[in-house]
Amino acid sequence: MIVAVDGPTASGKGTIARAIADHFGLPVLDTGLLYRAVGYQTQLNHGDPDNAADALAACDFPDSLLGDPALRYESTGSLASRASVHPAVRAALFQRQVDFANQPGGAVLDGRDIGTVIAPHADAKLFVTASAEERARRRHAEMHGRGVEVSYEAVLADIHARDARDTGRADAPLLRADDAMLLDNSGMSVADGIAAAIAFVDEKVRRPS
Ligand code: DC
Repeated sequence: MIVAVDGPTASGKGTIARAIADHFGLPVLDTGLLYRAVGYQTQLNHGDPDNAADALAACDFPDSLLGDPALRYESTGSLASRASVHPAVRAALFQRQVDFANQPGGAVLDGRDIGTVIAPHADAKLFVTASAEERARRRHAEMHGRGVEVSYEAVLADIHARDARDTGRADAPLLRADDAMLLDNSGMSVADGIAAAIAFVDEKVRRPS
């Protein structure tokens, strides 16, 4: 069984993807981490993520980079979003994601284009979202908890910028697949969001359409 979980930044899609994977005993891939590694490696190379050649050169990042805590930084998310605009970068990361999705037994993947490009044949697709203000509140609280000094307004502005870039790019933009369940978890507890997602996947498995 392949489960595709897409959605904008700070929507909680990663938490939901991991919970689905745990529940059904499937491996999970956070595809954003691959783009984060490219963005971060571009910076390590003193390159510019807006430059397609620089970003492409960073696609052969070492696997060990995927465990670097710096990939989780908000600033790395912006580098990733910029690097991910280039079709050559998306093409370089494509097969790795497709292979993960199609492994025997299935998998859960979360990202922006899983249900539309990477695994359009997924058995269950979710599009997880929340209002920009709610996502900014969550991201701000999480950063504050890590001791990062940043204003709510700055986080909200970054979320708006990322949404615009991720949905506005020409190649594989952030888009809800026609057959994806829309899960807007604004005002929902984390547990309720997870329960709704698992119930949906469960129903899909028992009654595939
Ligand atoms: O999910 P995330 O915030 O870790 O992703 C970081 C950036 O990577 C995101 O702003 C856009 C890009 N990305 C993408 O283009 N396609 C994906 N499948 C996953 C992430």
